[in-house]
Amino acid sequence: MLSLQSLSKTYADGTRALDAIDLSVPNAEIVALIGGSGCGKTTLLRLIAGLDRPSAGAIALDGEPITGPHPGVGLVFQEPRLLPWLDVAGNVGFGLGELPRRARAERVAHALERVGLAEHAGRWPRELSGGQQQRVSIARAFVANPRVLLLDEPFSALDAFTRKDLHRHLLALWEEVRPTVLIVTHDVGEAVALADRAIVMRPKPGRLDESVALDLARPREPSAPTSEAATRAILGALDRSLRPRDAARTPELAGGSSF
Ligand SMILES: Nc1ncnc2c1ncn2[C@@H]1O[C@H](COP(=O)(O)OP(=O)(O)OP(=O)(O)O)[C@@H](O)[C@H]1O
Ligand SMILES: [Mg+2]
Repeated sequence: MLSLQSLSKTYADGTRALDAIDLSVPNAEIVALIGGSGCGKTTLLRLIAGLDRPSAGAIALDGEPITGPHPGVGLVFQEPRLLPWLDVAGNVGFGLGELPRRARAERVAHALERVGLAEHAGRWPRELSGGQQQRVSIARAFVANPRVLLLDEPFSALDAFTRKDLHRHLLALWEEVRPTVLIVTHDVGEAVALADRAIVMRPKPGRLDESVALDLARPREPSAPTSEAATRAILGALDRSLRPRDAARTPELAGGSSF
């Protein structure tokens, strides 16, 4: 279980990026975080990754506090961020330095195969398309067998075909490794394709606003009636998140948000 308790982040200039977030994510759940620009999505992932410290509150993974970068927590950014002086296999294996060379090579080869890049192990990042580079960064995140995988708009720069292909690769790896996944997306269709739960956020201060359960069988077809109903439910929640919240109507949310 990944649990966030009364998690708040106020930046030095006074910006209240997150305010009293309570969130429990069971192991292996996929949660999509959706919300407008500035509602604290990246801040939330950075805190969970241990790259920044909260102003208040706590983060725990299976009861163990996370107070800094953690080997069980992987992060994938919007842009691939590959090391240009290492080839594809070198990039994927970069964090596995402590493993014997042979075991490392096997893990890397397996991860590359799972994202369909087995033949490109010796290429340089500059020789890859944007979609291929992002597949390398997903392989790099999975090769360490993360317990929690955080993805910050990982597919937003890609075309619809490549995105769908990467969804397939991501879900195949998730089936194998079963990490807890938090994925930030602006694409409601992406949330419906991937997640068990979509959480809509609202800004100023950053809060969790509504949760939509996506209890649909996989693989999911976007045109299936269940997918369309889920899409409508998320769009409705997004719409409500843009309106002022009536604190009197929802007193339980007046001091923060709990999911
Ligand atoms: N280092 C920082 N110093 C001060 N304010 C910051 C800092 N980083 C983020 N913020 C502010 O905190 C708020 C939340 O930012 P954050 O980047 O988490 O939003 P986001 O939901 O990821 O937005 P986007 O969808 O545009 O990526 C914003 O108002 C932003 O301007
Ligand atoms: Mg962001």
